[in-house]
Amino acid sequence: MFNYNSLKSQIKMFFATPESNNYSIDFSQSKYAVEESLSDVAKKKNIYIGTIADNNLENKNIYKAVPEHFNSVTCENAMKWGKLVKGDDLTEYDFSAADEIADLANEKNVSMRGHTLIWGRVPGASYPKIIDDIIKDCDDPAGELNKILEHHIRTMIQRYSGNIRVWDVVNEPLEVFGEDFADYTFYKVLGKDYIKKSFIWADKYRTTEKLALNEQFFNYRDKRAVKFIEFLKECKAENVPIDVIGLQHHIMFNEPKYDGMKWFLDEITSIGYRFELTEADVRKGVFKKSKDKTLAQAKCYYNIAKLCSEYDEFDGITIWGIDDAHNWYDNLSPFDKGFMGVNAPFLFDENFCKKPCYYGLLHGIISE
Ligand code: GLA
Repeated sequence: MFNYNSLKSQIKMFFATPESNNYSIDFSQSKYAVEESLSDVAKKKNIYIGTIADNNLENKNIYKAVPEHFNSVTCENAMKWGKLVKGDDLTEYDFSAADEIADLANEKNVSMRGHTLIWGRVPGASYPKIIDDIIKDCDDPAGELNKILEHHIRTMIQRYSGNIRVWDVVNEPLEVFGEDFADYTFYKVLGKDYIKKSFIWADKYRTTEKLALNEQFFNYRDKRAVKFIEFLKECKAENVPIDVIGLQHHIMFNEPKYDGMKWFLDEITSIGYRFELTEADVRKGVFKKSKDKTLAQAKCYYNIAKLCSEYDEFDGITIWGIDDAHNWYDNLSPFDKGFMGVNAPFLFDENFCKKPCYYGLLHGIISE
């Protein structure tokens, strides 16, 4: 369930967190510009550095971004179930927007993350709303839901087989600001089995795709993170076929605590999982006390990339947008109001010029 007090405490922490202005590395473009692009570095390090493509490829910068700077693409929305199936017939899909992006990825010879198969958060967007009505009115809700989920997983995996390197099989199983599993329809009917079964079905239909469980953490070392880790241990003990843990890594309120993040990464890798940052961004407004917010933001990208690169289990990072002119925070309350500071979360500015963040990320990846 949505926990309002926890949201309040995140906002309170945003205004209270102290920051350091002592950055020893200057990521100004002139000093740290290197010949290599992120894409070159990704190939050299055998990881993926990705970006997103929006519906109908409206942000034309995707054509400049890929493959020059990024060697992986994720559909921002086009592969979400509620975008594919809009009517009452759950077998009637409109694949056109997703196909367009898959074609682009093929043409540009970059790989794709599949985002996302099962996500219960937003009826009508993350999954077709009609499912709630079907479940409400039927005699065997669990049996019916099992069939519906398996059918969708099979349809998507088989259609995009060959295009997708890793699927987010289940997205955001936890409450956003609470410590429990989110109370979605899927959870109400099947309990946490909906998560485990989704991976078992995905495993049945996949060929070479890896299977990821994707979640957002504001804090990598708290009760919520512990709950997640306990669940991963349970899944491992039961041989649930999860390969990769996707960490969305939207930095919207506060800079992450790197010792907490390291603790979390040590935990999940020691259980036996690989990991990726799947939706990374860093709002500039997070650095409210810094004299040089541009540098602080770049340093944050650097720190994240450096920490992740220390692990052999690190598969890559996807940035949840291309340029600051097209960013999802500008339409999201409370970030749209301005009092949480400027958003500008990505590696390219409004004019598609590289920001110091670009070099921060690049140097973080190449630093051993
Ligand atoms: C979550 C989802 C993404 C996207 C963002 C907001 O992180 O996983 O697909 O919807 O919210 O843009």
